[in-house]
Amino acid sequence: MTETPYTFDLNDPDCIPSRYDNHIRRTLTSMRGQYQDTAAYDAMLAKEDTLLYEVYELQRPHVAGEVLHGISIVHPGKVGDEYFMTKGHFHTVLETAEVYHCLKGEGCMVMETPEGEWAVAELRPGVVLYVLPRWAHRSVNTGAGDLVTLFAYPGHAGHDYGTIEQKGFRKLVVERGGGAVVVDNPRWSGGQ
Ligand code: F6R
Ligand code: ZN
Repeated sequence: MTETPYTFDLNDPDCIPSRYDNHIRRTLTSMRGQYQDTAAYDAMLAKEDTLLYEVYELQRPHVAGEVLHGISIVHPGKVGDEYFMTKGHFHTVLETAEVYHCLKGEGCMVMETPEGEWAVAELRPGVVLYVLPRWAHRSVNTGAGDLVTLFAYPGHAGHDYGTIEQKGFRKLVVERGGGAVVVDNPRWSGGQ
Protein backbone atom coordinates (compact mmCIF):
# COMPACT_ATOMS: atom_id res chain seq x y z
CA MET A 1 0.00 0.00 0.00
CA THR A 2 1.55 3.25 -1.10
CA GLU A 3 1.84 6.18 1.31
CA THR A 4 2.02 8.88 -1.34
CA PRO A 5 -0.86 10.22 -3.43
CA TYR A 6 -1.46 8.19 -6.56
CA THR A 7 -3.34 8.17 -9.81
CA PHE A 8 -4.42 5.36 -12.05
CA ASP A 9 -5.83 5.07 -15.54
CA LEU A 10 -8.92 3.27 -16.67
CA ASN A 11 -7.69 1.65 -19.82
CA ASP A 12 -9.77 1.18 -22.94
CA PRO A 13 -11.64 -0.81 -23.94
CA ASP A 14 -12.47 -2.62 -20.67
CA CYS A 15 -11.88 0.15 -18.07
CA ILE A 16 -9.65 -2.19 -16.04
CA PRO A 17 -7.62 0.06 -13.72
CA SER A 18 -3.91 0.30 -14.44
CA ARG A 19 -3.26 -0.45 -10.76
CA TYR A 20 -5.21 -2.42 -8.20
CA ASP A 21 -4.56 -4.59 -5.15
CA ASN A 22 -7.44 -7.02 -5.21
CA HIS A 23 -9.41 -8.64 -8.03
CA ILE A 24 -12.68 -10.28 -6.97
CA ARG A 25 -14.51 -12.60 -9.38
CA ARG A 26 -18.08 -13.59 -8.55
CA THR A 27 -19.56 -16.56 -10.37
CA LEU A 28 -23.00 -18.19 -10.35
CA THR A 29 -22.23 -20.31 -7.28
CA SER A 30 -21.84 -17.19 -5.15
CA MET A 31 -25.42 -16.17 -6.11
CA ARG A 32 -27.22 -19.34 -5.03
CA GLY A 33 -30.75 -18.50 -3.90
CA GLN A 34 -30.64 -14.96 -5.28
CA TYR A 35 -32.25 -15.54 -8.70
CA GLN A 36 -35.96 -16.24 -8.71
CA ASP A 37 -35.87 -18.79 -11.53
CA THR A 38 -34.09 -21.62 -9.71
CA ALA A 39 -34.54 -24.04 -12.64
CA ALA A 40 -32.79 -21.60 -14.99
CA TYR A 41 -30.08 -21.07 -12.35
CA ASP A 42 -29.50 -24.83 -11.94
CA ALA A 43 -29.47 -25.42 -15.70
CA MET A 44 -26.93 -22.64 -16.25
CA LEU A 45 -24.73 -23.84 -13.40
CA ALA A 46 -24.81 -27.41 -14.73
CA LYS A 47 -23.18 -26.12 -17.91
CA GLU A 48 -20.66 -23.75 -16.37
CA ASP A 49 -20.02 -21.68 -13.24
CA THR A 50 -20.43 -18.50 -15.31
CA LEU A 51 -18.53 -15.35 -14.34
CA LEU A 52 -21.16 -12.71 -13.45
CA TYR A 53 -19.14 -9.75 -12.21
CA GLU A 54 -15.70 -8.58 -11.16
CA VAL A 55 -14.42 -5.94 -8.76
CA TYR A 56 -11.00 -4.31 -8.86
CA GLU A 57 -10.18 -2.79 -5.48
CA LEU A 58 -7.46 -0.41 -4.45
CA GLN A 59 -6.58 -1.32 -0.90
CA ARG A 60 -6.69 1.31 1.83
CA PRO A 61 -7.02 0.96 5.59
CA HIS A 62 -10.60 0.30 6.71
CA VAL A 63 -10.86 3.42 8.83
CA ALA A 64 -13.24 6.37 8.73
CA GLY A 65 -10.76 8.83 7.25
CA GLU A 66 -10.08 6.73 4.16
CA VAL A 67 -12.18 6.40 1.01
CA LEU A 68 -12.27 2.89 -0.42
CA HIS A 69 -12.53 2.87 -4.19
CA GLY A 70 -12.35 0.70 -7.26
CA ILE A 71 -14.09 -0.52 -10.37
CA SER A 72 -17.08 -2.83 -10.59
CA ILE A 73 -17.78 -4.68 -13.86
CA VAL A 74 -21.05 -6.58 -14.25
CA HIS A 75 -21.06 -8.73 -17.36
CA PRO A 76 -24.11 -8.98 -19.63
CA GLY A 77 -26.53 -11.88 -19.39
CA LYS A 78 -29.59 -13.24 -17.64
CA VAL A 79 -30.61 -16.09 -15.40
CA GLY A 80 -34.09 -16.85 -16.73
CA ASP A 81 -35.47 -13.36 -17.35
CA GLU A 82 -33.48 -11.73 -14.53
CA TYR A 83 -30.41 -9.77 -15.50
CA PHE A 84 -26.92 -10.45 -14.17
CA MET A 85 -26.42 -8.41 -10.99
CA THR A 86 -24.21 -8.03 -7.96
CA LYS A 87 -25.00 -9.72 -4.64
CA GLY A 88 -25.95 -6.38 -3.16
CA HIS A 89 -25.50 -5.34 0.44
CA PHE A 90 -26.15 -2.91 3.24
CA HIS A 91 -23.08 -1.29 4.71
CA THR A 92 -22.43 -2.72 8.18
CA VAL A 93 -22.19 0.84 9.44
CA LEU A 94 -25.62 1.76 8.05
CA GLU A 95 -24.94 5.49 8.25
CA THR A 96 -22.36 5.41 5.45
CA ALA A 97 -22.97 6.47 1.86
CA GLU A 98 -21.38 5.58 -1.46
CA VAL A 99 -20.77 7.36 -4.77
CA TYR A 100 -20.94 5.56 -8.11
CA HIS A 101 -19.90 6.95 -11.48
CA CYS A 102 -21.05 4.94 -14.48
CA LEU A 103 -18.31 4.69 -17.07
CA LYS A 104 -19.74 2.23 -19.53
CA GLY A 105 -22.81 0.15 -20.32
CA GLU A 106 -26.48 0.23 -19.41
CA GLY A 107 -28.16 -0.80 -16.23
CA CYS A 108 -29.49 0.36 -12.93
CA MET A 109 -28.93 0.41 -9.20
CA VAL A 110 -31.65 -1.23 -7.14
CA MET A 111 -31.80 0.25 -3.64
CA GLU A 112 -33.85 -0.05 -0.47
CA THR A 113 -33.78 0.91 3.18
CA PRO A 114 -34.54 -1.24 6.22
CA GLU A 115 -37.66 0.92 6.67
CA GLY A 116 -39.13 -0.20 3.33
CA GLU A 117 -38.36 2.64 0.94
CA TRP A 118 -37.02 1.57 -2.44
CA ALA A 119 -35.56 3.24 -5.52
CA VAL A 120 -34.11 2.24 -8.87
CA ALA A 121 -31.63 4.60 -10.54
CA GLU A 122 -30.70 4.35 -14.19
CA LEU A 123 -27.00 3.89 -14.92
CA ARG A 124 -25.50 4.94 -18.26
CA PRO A 125 -22.13 6.47 -19.11
CA GLY A 126 -21.68 9.81 -17.38
CA VAL A 127 -24.26 9.26 -14.64
CA VAL A 128 -23.14 9.87 -11.08
CA LEU A 129 -25.21 8.21 -8.37
CA TYR A 130 -25.14 9.10 -4.69
CA VAL A 131 -26.33 6.19 -2.58
CA LEU A 132 -27.47 7.71 0.69
CA PRO A 133 -26.60 6.21 4.06
CA ARG A 134 -28.94 3.33 5.03
CA TRP A 135 -29.67 2.28 1.43
CA ALA A 136 -28.75 -1.26 0.37
CA HIS A 137 -27.54 -1.31 -3.24
CA ARG A 138 -27.23 -3.80 -6.10
CA SER A 139 -25.96 -3.09 -9.64
CA VAL A 140 -27.93 -4.71 -12.47
CA ASN A 141 -26.70 -4.94 -16.06
CA THR A 142 -29.62 -4.55 -18.48
CA GLY A 143 -27.46 -3.96 -21.56
CA ALA A 144 -25.61 -6.01 -24.13
CA GLY A 145 -22.09 -5.11 -22.97
CA ASP A 146 -20.30 -4.75 -19.64
CA LEU A 147 -21.72 -2.36 -17.02
CA VAL A 148 -18.72 -0.55 -15.55
CA THR A 149 -18.86 1.76 -12.53
CA LEU A 150 -16.31 3.51 -10.36
CA PHE A 151 -17.28 3.45 -6.68
CA ALA A 152 -16.05 5.21 -3.53
CA TYR A 153 -17.21 4.80 0.07
CA PRO A 154 -15.96 5.39 3.62
CA GLY A 155 -13.22 3.10 4.85
CA HIS A 156 -15.11 1.96 7.95
CA ALA A 157 -18.38 1.11 6.15
CA GLY A 158 -18.05 -2.70 6.06
CA HIS A 159 -20.44 -5.00 4.19
CA ASP A 160 -23.55 -6.77 5.44
CA TYR A 161 -24.36 -9.37 2.76
CA GLY A 162 -26.37 -11.63 5.05
CA THR A 163 -29.52 -9.49 5.21
CA ILE A 164 -29.95 -9.49 1.42
CA GLU A 165 -28.99 -13.17 1.14
CA GLN A 166 -31.79 -14.02 3.55
CA LYS A 167 -34.49 -11.55 2.52
CA GLY A 168 -33.62 -10.55 -1.04
CA PHE A 169 -34.42 -7.10 -2.41
CA ARG A 170 -38.04 -5.96 -2.59
CA LYS A 171 -37.68 -5.29 -6.31
CA LEU A 172 -36.24 -7.30 -9.19
CA VAL A 173 -35.19 -6.12 -12.64
CA VAL A 174 -36.32 -8.51 -15.36
CA GLU A 175 -36.70 -8.56 -19.13
CA ARG A 176 -40.27 -8.30 -20.41
CA GLY A 177 -40.99 -7.93 -24.12
CA GLY A 178 -37.39 -7.07 -24.90
CA GLY A 179 -37.02 -4.34 -22.26
CA ALA A 180 -36.03 -4.05 -18.62
CA VAL A 181 -38.82 -3.61 -16.08
CA VAL A 182 -38.91 -3.39 -12.29
CA VAL A 183 -41.21 -5.93 -10.63
CA ASP A 184 -42.02 -7.00 -7.09
CA ASN A 185 -39.87 -9.85 -5.82
CA PRO A 186 -42.37 -12.64 -5.24
CA ARG A 187 -39.95 -14.31 -2.83
CA TRP A 188 -39.07 -11.23 -0.82
CA SER A 189 -39.23 -12.36 2.80
CA GLY A 190 -38.61 -9.19 4.74
CA GLY A 191 -42.17 -8.99 5.96
CA GLN A 192 -42.17 -12.36 7.66
C1 F6R B 1 -18.80 -1.33 -2.03
C2 F6R B 1 -19.74 -1.42 -3.17
C3 F6R B 1 -19.23 -1.92 -4.49
C4 F6R B 1 -19.66 -3.38 -4.61
C5 F6R B 1 -19.42 -4.02 -5.95
C6 F6R B 1 -19.82 -5.50 -5.93
O1 F6R B 1 -19.43 -0.93 -0.87
O2 F6R B 1 -20.90 -1.15 -3.05
O3 F6R B 1 -17.89 -1.84 -4.61
O4 F6R B 1 -18.96 -4.08 -3.61
O5 F6R B 1 -20.20 -3.38 -6.92
O6 F6R B 1 -21.07 -5.71 -5.36
P1 F6R B 1 -21.26 -6.63 -4.07
O7 F6R B 1 -20.30 -6.14 -3.04
O8 F6R B 1 -22.68 -6.41 -3.67
O9 F6R B 1 -20.95 -8.02 -4.46
ZN1 ZN C 1 -21.55 -0.57 -1.00
